[in-house]
Amino acid sequence: MFENFANVWTIVGLASDVIAGKPLAMRVAGERVVFFRDGAGKAVALMDQCPHRGVALSLGRVSHGEIECPFHGWRFDGAGRNCHVPWNPDAKTDHLGAHALPVREAGGLLWLFTGFEPTLEPSVSDTFLLRNAVVCGQCVTWRAHWTRVMENMLDMPHLPFVHRKTIGKQVGPAGGRRMDLAWEEQPFGARVWGKVDGAPRPSHLEYRYPNAMELFIDPPGKLLRLSAICIPEDEATTRLVLLTARNFARSSLLDPVFRWMNRRIAREDQQIVESSLPAVIPLGGQEASVRTDAPTLAFRRIYRQKLLGGTVVAPARSEPTGSGDV
Ligand code: FES
Ligand SMILES: [Fe+2]
Repeated sequence: MFENFANVWTIVGLASDVIAGKPLAMRVAGERVVFFRDGAGKAVALMDQCPHRGVALSLGRVSHGEIECPFHGWRFDGAGRNCHVPWNPDAKTDHLGAHALPVREAGGLLWLFTGFEPTLEPSVSDTFLLRNAVVCGQCVTWRAHWTRVMENMLDMPHLPFVHRKTIGKQVGPAGGRRMDLAWEEQPFGARVWGKVDGAPRPSHLEYRYPNAMELFIDPPGKLLRLSAICIPEDEATTRLVLLTARNFARSSLLDPVFRWMNRRIAREDQQIVESSLPAVIPLGGQEASVRTDAPTLAFRRIYRQKLLGGTVVAPARSEPTGSGDV
């Protein structure tokens, strides 16, 4: 399970995306996951596969903090415990549970752990903990492997080519001058600084392990940060969560403007990234690289060392004990 993306915390959306009384289905690293709010109002997640006959629990309904399978009506709480088996009042429900996954609501964001036993808590960027910043978000889906999408987010030399009318405008005319990039390792991942012709760029970006980028634009005296979280859905598809944090123009009436801006920048990249071959980043020397590829090559090393080949095994189900059970 969660192959090549195992045992990590990932942002999957805004905490407000999980609405009481409604299941929210997602695909994460090849697995189906369903979120809902439990009886205490806490966001929870189960593998979206009923332990009875494997159908998607997300097609069922949520009532009183429990999710009901649409097929035969088995009900599960937020911990995956089986709370009801219709027609079988004698069923011993201990071994009839669903698999629960760790979820956190931190910094207004919804986090999922791609495994069963997290040893660490999610590392939340300070941006999302500031009280005077407002955050708006949206999702887009690209037909590309998440590693290609993540690399694009860490790549500065493409800015004046792909984003010449948006965030690449200030980098200067494309081509012909010198860019220097510094990849500074940090406990959360890395900070990437750039210089153009020796002059430090006013903006920098952060890579947050495993799959997030935050671009610090911060105009003088203001806060403006764009985040992109690259969530693998499967080998061919990435769901991008795009977040904008700002401490000015704070009215929610202006959210559509900031969403539009973020969507426009992402669209400038999409077709180009989707055209990459091979679909998954090659890990040997198959691609020609230069000095300014240092951040993407650093990401490749991290991917190879920490994620590639990783997998999760679901906890064993206890054996049935009651005479009426099968
Ligand atoms: S498949 Fe879910 S209750 Fe039967
Ligand atoms: Fe880009």
